Order: sequence, then structure tokens, then C-alpha cells
Amino acid sequence: PHSPSFACRLIAWQKTSGRHGLAWQVSDPYCVWLSEIMLQQTQVATVSAYYPRFLAAFPNVHALAAAAQDEVLALWAGLGYYSRARNLHKAAQQIVSDFGGTFPAERRELETLCGVGRSTAAAIAAFAFKQRETILDGNVKRVLCRVFALDGNPADKAFEQQLWTVAESLLPECADDMPAYTQGLMDLGATVCKRSKPDCPACPMTDICQAKAQNRTAELPRRKVS
Ligand code: ADE
Repeated sequence: PHSPSFACRLIAWQKTSGRHGLAWQVSDPYCVWLSEIMLQQTQVATVSAYYPRFLAAFPNVHALAAAAQDEVLALWAGLGYYSRARNLHKAAQQIVSDFGGTFPAERRELETLCGVGRSTAAAIAAFAFKQRETILDGNVKRVLCRVFALDGNPADKAFEQQLWTVAESLLPECADDMPAYTQGLMDLGATVCKRSKPDCPACPMTDICQAKAQNRTAELPRRKVS
């Protein structure tokens, strides 16, 4: 699909109606990376309580790389999925050993870090470095499947690849818009285009949404079938 208005609509909506004032809405790549790892499998409300404590204990990548694994795990307690904390610690050491202590700005380089997949790498590249890279998490997949009435099987690799291509085609032209655009993608899926009972009247895409027009918001995205 090609939709010149998608990015415009999303950016304008994020500015008026998206989430603002979250502690990690900064451009420091260490802070962005840390928050994105925490937010991978943990709710915003929980992360809001743990993130400041963790950042106070390990204020930069050097402090984290030099810490003992036990200390890192102790500060992670409560967030669950401890492999994330072990990967975080390893990735801090990779930043020091492979990148001289400075986060790389390229999505592909960020993907070499332990625990950082393509979507997380894109989030860091977009928020911290204004790179034109797209995220694609579960919330974003739902938004795209609905707005463009894409009814592939989400477990299918070829369909996943199609979603990456669609997501890339929608990026704003202007790199300065990348932080608001990326936050808008996250916020729209999390707060409006919810899995059940989407709030279509509040959605900036409501008059271009194909699922809405076809009365198919309840059936899109399709359930995963392996
Ligand atoms: N989930 C993942 N990343 C997020 C972010 N930056 N803000 C809010 N929720 C998120």
C-alpha cells in the first residue's frame, strides 16, 4: 500500500493525543535502549517504576558493563524474563568492546547487540538518531493489518516480510519526524487500535482504515495459525 497521509496523520495525532512525559522519552541511546528492552515484555506502568532505579544504579553504559551480573539481576528483580537482563549486561560489554563505548547509529549495527532484534534496533535508531527505520512489533502489525486490510497469516514468514515492506513504505520523509512517528505507532496500537474493542472514533486513521470500511476490525489481524 501507498498512503502519503499515514505518516502525517500519525505524527499530528501523536503530538495531541499520544503518550508524553514518559521518563525514557529522551534522545540518549543508552536510555532508549534500556527502556526498550524493559518494555519488550513488561507494561509501561511497571517499567515506569523500575527504570529510574535501574538508571540511578547504572547511569551509563560503562557503569553497566563494569557491574557484576548479580547486581544487574538484583536490580532487574520484578521485571521478569531474566534472559533480558543477562543480554543487557552482555550488550553493554559489547558496546564497550566493539564500539568504543559509543552506541552505533545504524540499525544493522544495533542488531549485533545481544537481545536487540530488528524492531528494537529500529526503535533505538529512530528515537536516538532520527534514522528512517521502522519498528514492527505486535501492536504495529495489528494497526497495519487493519488500516490496509491485510489478511495474511501472522505466523507466515512471507507475510511478516510483507509487513516490514509496508511499514517501510509508510515512513515520513523528514528524519526529524522519526521520534514522534515511532512513538505514534506504539501509542496508536497500545491505546486506540486495541486487539478487542478498538476505539475507532478516536483514531486518526478512521477515514482511511480499510478494515473499518469493510466492517472487519474484529477479524483483522487474523489469528496465528502455525
Ligand atoms: N513499548 C515499547 N516501547 C515503548 C515506548 N517507547 N513507549 C511506550 N511503550 C513502549
